Amino acid sequence: MCGIVGYMGKSNAKEILLNGLKELEYRGYDSAGIAILQQDTLHTFKAVGKLENLESKIKDFEVSSGFCIGIGHTRWATHGKPTEANAHPHTAEFSNVVHNGIIENYQEIKEELIILGHHFLSQTDTEVIVHLFEENLKKLDPQEAFYATINRIKGAYAILLVSKIAPNKIFYAKNGSPLIIAKGSGGIYFASSDSPLVGLASQVVYLEDGDMGVMDIEGFDLLKNIQNFSVNKTLAQKDGFRYFMEKEIYEQHSVLLETIMGRVSENGVIFDEIDQSFFLGIRSITLCACGTSYHAGMVGKYLLERLAKIRVNVVIASEFRYGGFVSQEDELFISISQSGETADTLEALKLAKEYNQKSLAICNVDNSSIVRLSDCAILTRVGLEKGVASTKAFASQVLVLWMLAVYMGRTYGHLDEREAKLQSSDMLSAIRATKVESKFHERIKRLSKRYLHGHGFFFIGRDVFYPLALEGALKLKEISYLHAEGYPSGEMKHGPIALADSNLFTIALLSEHLLYDKMQSNIAELSARDATICVIGSKECESADDMIIIPQAKSYMEEFFSMMLGLQLLSLEVAIRLGNDVDMPRNLAKSVTVE
Ligand code: AGP
Repeated sequence: MCGIVGYMGKSNAKEILLNGLKELEYRGYDSAGIAILQQDTLHTFKAVGKLENLESKIKDFEVSSGFCIGIGHTRWATHGKPTEANAHPHTAEFSNVVHNGIIENYQEIKEELIILGHHFLSQTDTEVIVHLFEENLKKLDPQEAFYATINRIKGAYAILLVSKIAPNKIFYAKNGSPLIIAKGSGGIYFASSDSPLVGLASQVVYLEDGDMGVMDIEGFDLLKNIQNFSVNKTLAQKDGFRYFMEKEIYEQHSVLLETIMGRVSENGVIFDEIDQSFFLGIRSITLCACGTSYHAGMVGKYLLERLAKIRVNVVIASEFRYGGFVSQEDELFISISQSGETADTLEALKLAKEYNQKSLAICNVDNSSIVRLSDCAILTRVGLEKGVASTKAFASQVLVLWMLAVYMGRTYGHLDEREAKLQSSDMLSAIRATKVESKFHERIKRLSKRYLHGHGFFFIGRDVFYPLALEGALKLKEISYLHAEGYPSGEMKHGPIALADSNLFTIALLSEHLLYDKMQSNIAELSARDATICVIGSKECESADDMIIIPQAKSYMEEFFSMMLGLQLLSLEVAIRLGNDVDMPRNLAKSVTVE
């Protein structure tokens, strides 16, 4: 997904912008560029592909000492192919712009500007911004021209613009796409997320939708809502692991303790961040999310219905937005999102708010758009997740939904104190189960070589293990590019089993605590069709070709977290054997901020 950085000050702008873009690499991109304005000259560099390509183009360009300003961008193609012409910054005669988001009315603006004599070099929507700005400058001063430009465009955007007409200033605007302005000893910084600011900034302002302005070196202190910035750099490093995804799998057992800290005790569950009255009178819940977060929502449905006896509807945000929305009275809308910036989830939340539904966000990023828009939020507290394939965020979302189910079960009187205490103790055991034992990892690493060349994978499970099967399949396809589908085991005989043969790999999640016999029969049905079966469970299974043995567990949720670990490690090892870039899989982006 596109990323933005900007800088003004006396440090080396080229290095700051390139380092900032490197910190945004994990979001996924197909081209990149920077523009530096110094001593009235605007230098623009762009390249397709990895940042190394941009670096080699810029290597001979020296930034002269003294004050200068610059903007940079990593692009993930939406309008127009990933070419150099379509990469940002986009230029007109004497100005450059970078933009995240989509300008919906760009076509009509472009046509008008062409009639007025403007020449367009790209197929992008973004280019109209810089031309419209220069057109407006014919009648207005720079600030007015920029504001008139922003007021004319429709859509979602985070924009930075620099111009020779105002050589000490950066013009900025935000609507629907994140943008941060920060200050540090080296100057003023801009970024579309926290990571480029780590180690540079001491204060930040998370801009709100509708914010626009013109920043100069004195301007930061005049902004509203300045906050201290103390994100730790070491958290953003790989810590000796081969990939961020691997590091994130390994840190689950410790970060999940953060998730429950102050919330789960031997007496049950509390949420200090939410007034208990917020939950009173709620009769049903909509859980809304995309991708992995949606799978967490599906697990949440089983838990909330079982423990809190409340009706739950789980919806994929992109479907919810355009489906017939029947707003129920007394319904709680819960959006689940790691990033808090996923466009579909954000828009679904806006829709729910239009219908006056109460809203709660389960999110990993404080100050994200989804958190800010929701009535209240439960933060998952697992720190920056860099791997595009979500692991620790999923685990924390499930854990929060489990806590919520216990909390609501108590609030509504469906769980007694003894049961709530039992659940709390099960949560601690489940977290312990996410500690990676080296023997367990080694076993999966060895086994992974047998699962590289089939004609596809089935992941099967029942109850909460069904969404876990979906998540296992998603993880594998995201990073290995192998075809994988998740199914509820009972559905196999209604169609999918037609695919079964010895080259079809089945990963079966066999719980000892939930529907053990039913699941055994489903595995036997596949084994009878000669499918190659790997069972993840604590008991040997006769029909299995391979076993990934998990420790015996006290509860089905403890088994859930152990199996989740097994699935994450299996995907990781298969993808590594296939030589893929695990942290930046092809075609994917970490934060999907466009529809
Ligand atoms: C997870 O591995 C994915 N890459 C993706 O499905 C992700 O979960 C989805 O895009 C939603 O993101 P969010 O949680 O940040 O809203």
